[in-house]
Amino acid sequence: MRVDPLNPRGEDVAEAAAVIRSGGLVAFPTETVYGLGADAFNAEASARIFKAKGRPADNPLIVHVSSLDMALEIGDMPDRAVEVAKRAWPGPITFVVRKRAELPAVVTAGLPTVALRCPAHPVALRLIEAAGTPIAAPSANKAGRPSPTEASHVVEDLGDSVDLVLDAGRTFFGVESTIIDVTREPPVLLRPGPFTVEELRDILGDVEIPPFARGLGEADVALAPGMKYRHYAPEVPLILVDFDLASATEAVRGLGLRVAVLCLAGKCADADATIYVGSDPYEIAKNLYDALRRLDKTKVDIALVPTVAERGIGLAVMNRLRKASGFKLARNEAELRGLLGR
Ligand code: TXA
Ligand code: MG
Repeated sequence: MRVDPLNPRGEDVAEAAAVIRSGGLVAFPTETVYGLGADAFNAEASARIFKAKGRPADNPLIVHVSSLDMALEIGDMPDRAVEVAKRAWPGPITFVVRKRAELPAVVTAGLPTVALRCPAHPVALRLIEAAGTPIAAPSANKAGRPSPTEASHVVEDLGDSVDLVLDAGRTFFGVESTIIDVTREPPVLLRPGPFTVEELRDILGDVEIPPFARGLGEADVALAPGMKYRHYAPEVPLILVDFDLASATEAVRGLGLRVAVLCLAGKCADADATIYVGSDPYEIAKNLYDALRRLDKTKVDIALVPTVAERGIGLAVMNRLRKASGFKLARNEAELRGLLGR
C-alpha cells in the first residue's frame, strides 16, 4: 500500500493498525530502514517475525513506541536515558534498559532487558498510535541480508510472508538506529547509527565504544546477543581498500578477476562495474544498502570499496562496511593479494 510519508491517510493507517491488532505482520517505514512489525504483546505474532526473517531465536527485537510515556511503561529508563530521549526522540536512537512490562519472552529472547525506540517517521508513529500497542520490529530483511531502505527490498526478501507493506518511498538515513546499553556504567555503544557518538557524549559524558561497535571483530555475545551474526553481507566477496583505489583495482584485474568498485567519498576507479554510493557521509549512508543489493546483481568475482572517516555517521558506515566485508581490509597491495590468496 502506497502512503504519503509525511501525511498518510487516516483510513490507510487504520487498516494497517487493524492488521497489527489481529496478530498480523506489517512492514513499515522508519527514518532509518523499513521494519517488520507485530504487536509486541502478542507472542504468536512476534514469533512469526522470526519465522519470516529466518532470524535466530536468541536475537531480540526492538520495541517501537510512539512516546516517551509508552517507553516508561515498558522499560526502566534511567534518568540519563530519559535526558537523551527528551532531546533525541522521536529519532534514530535505541536504548537497552531493564524491562518492566511482561513482554513475551520471544520478543526479548528471554533477556531481562528490552531495546526501546521511538522512530521519527509520521507513518511509523501513527501506526503505533492507531494500533494502541507497542510494535516489535527488526529490520524487514531476510536474516543476513542488507536492511531494506525501500519497499521493493522488503518484497524482494519477504514477499508473501508479510501481510501488508506500507510503501512510503526511500528511508531518510539508510542505516539502522544507534543502540546504546544504558544498564551499564558508563553506557556502552552496541551499534553506531545516525545519532552520533559525539552527540551522545555531549549529553552523557563518557560512552564506551567496544571494538565490535566499530566493526572490529566479533561481538561480545553477553553484551550484544544479535551482533554475533554475520550481517549486511553481499554475496559478492567485498574488500575494504585503505590505499589508492585505482592501483588496488588494477592489481585485482591483473589477476584476471572481474571487479566491481563502490564509488564513495570522491573515490572511484575504472572497473568491470562501478556503483555510485555517495559523496558526503549522509548520502553514502542513505545509498549504502541499495548499493550492496545492486552489487549482487552484477557479474563480478570481487568488489572493492574505499574506507571513510570514522566520525559522525561515518562510524556507522564503516561498521556496516567492515561487517559486509567479513572484516577484510587491505592497507596495501601485498595485503590485498594476501586476502585474495594470491
Ligand atoms: O533502525 C532500527 O533500529 C531498525 C528500525 C526498523 O527501527 N531496526 C533494527 O532492528 O535495526 P534489528 O532487529 O535489525 O536490530 C536490532 C538489534 C539486534 O542486533 C539485537 O540483537 C539488538 O538490537 N537488541 C535488541 N534487544 C536487545 C537487548 N535487550 N540487548 C542487547 N541488544 C539488543
Ligand atoms: Mg537487522
